[in-house]
Amino acid sequence: SKIKFDYSNSLTSAHEYEYFKPQIMAAHELLHSGKGQGNDYLGWLHYPSSYDQAEFERIKVTAKKINERADVLIVIGIGGSYLGSKTVIDALSHSFYNELPKEKRKGAKIYFAGNHISGTYLSDLLEIIETQEVCLNVISKSGTTTEPAIAFRILKKALEAKYGKTEAKDRIFATTDAEKGALRTLANKEGYETFVIPANVGGRFSVITPVGLLPIAVAGIDIDALMQGVKDGETEYSETNIDENPCYQYALMRNVLYNKGKAIEVLVNYEPSMAFLAEWWMQLYGESEGKDGKGLFPTKMNNTTDLHSMGQMIQDGPRIMFETVVRVESVEKDLVLEMEDQDLDGLNYLAGKKMSYVNENAFKGTLEAHVDGRVPNLVVTIPQKDAYHFGKLLYFFMKACGISGYVLGVNPFDQPGVEAYKKNMFRLLGKK
Ligand code: PA5
Repeated sequence: SKIKFDYSNSLTSAHEYEYFKPQIMAAHELLHSGKGQGNDYLGWLHYPSSYDQAEFERIKVTAKKINERADVLIVIGIGGSYLGSKTVIDALSHSFYNELPKEKRKGAKIYFAGNHISGTYLSDLLEIIETQEVCLNVISKSGTTTEPAIAFRILKKALEAKYGKTEAKDRIFATTDAEKGALRTLANKEGYETFVIPANVGGRFSVITPVGLLPIAVAGIDIDALMQGVKDGETEYSETNIDENPCYQYALMRNVLYNKGKAIEVLVNYEPSMAFLAEWWMQLYGESEGKDGKGLFPTKMNNTTDLHSMGQMIQDGPRIMFETVVRVESVEKDLVLEMEDQDLDGLNYLAGKKMSYVNENAFKGTLEAHVDGRVPNLVVTIPQKDAYHFGKLLYFFMKACGISGYVLGVNPFDQPGVEAYKKNMFRLLGKK
């Protein structure tokens, strides 16, 4: 079923929405004709209806193989090469997935590495995996990114020391470009099983390719259902009647709000398992739109946790932000508060009520307060948190991002700005 978008609390007028419709349509034309800026990177747009089925089946076979061989899969990657899989695994797995005993887990434990340069973290990880059976999935589109390359060099050595070179080779899986980059050369030379990141899919759009799908499948998540959601998203969000297209409405409203002076978009959730979605979304929108001195600054609130820290700022700070709440309509697990003889904690007024009911009213109360405080609120609702709807949600945000970026007047598909720190770091490190 459908993802809903509600902009009735956007604090905008109907004519503002109407003014932007032609711009959304122009962005739609640009994106779908492939004539816009960054058109070398539109592979994600029709990927759901055109991906390599044989490779997709091999992902499922490999996931099974990994789960037979290992207790732990270490996913090595940074940026677009890990944010998507971690988002989906966090959202759709048990809250304490890695801590569950093997028989209760749907697959190997998943640890992440190579998304920073901490020797402490990697030393601790090596310690944690000492007594466990391990596989690695090293993911890098360019195949030359420093952070994952460092982590892979160290973890590969540890695996070879533990299993010997021949067995280690069968425990290492590489996801990279079909031809280019150091990781491709290395994988071919060592004889690792490999998966391909299509050259025309940028990192932040790659969760729906083997980059995201292999780790997600290892965690026991139904990637067939996920891709069905993505595919239905591709169809539903190509609808050119904007009034019928929630994805285009979201792209439209964020541009309306940006144009009337909002500088910050806060992605809000009410479920801890959804917290990492904001990290993926921040890369998607931050890297796509932060250009030419323009763009909404994407940030997040994990509620109700952050209502006890950043809540004050949202309620009463500078009026430069709006919120986009991602809401899950029906929760998968719930608890009922029971009546107690002595109402010592004063909670008997909630007796018989579910935690989801309390959480829902926290959402409603917060929305009302923030809108009263002149913070526009947009609400994206998914019916439930499952693989199908999550796939659709990912595509919803990706498509809205492409459209939104074109309306903003930037190239949403490049990221020249991320190179600046690298140049300095390489100079300081003496890289040739
Ligand atoms: O979106 C991007 O292009 C980046 O964030 C990359 O995903 C990130 O730098 C990792 O790159 P690579 O997969 O080439 O190692």
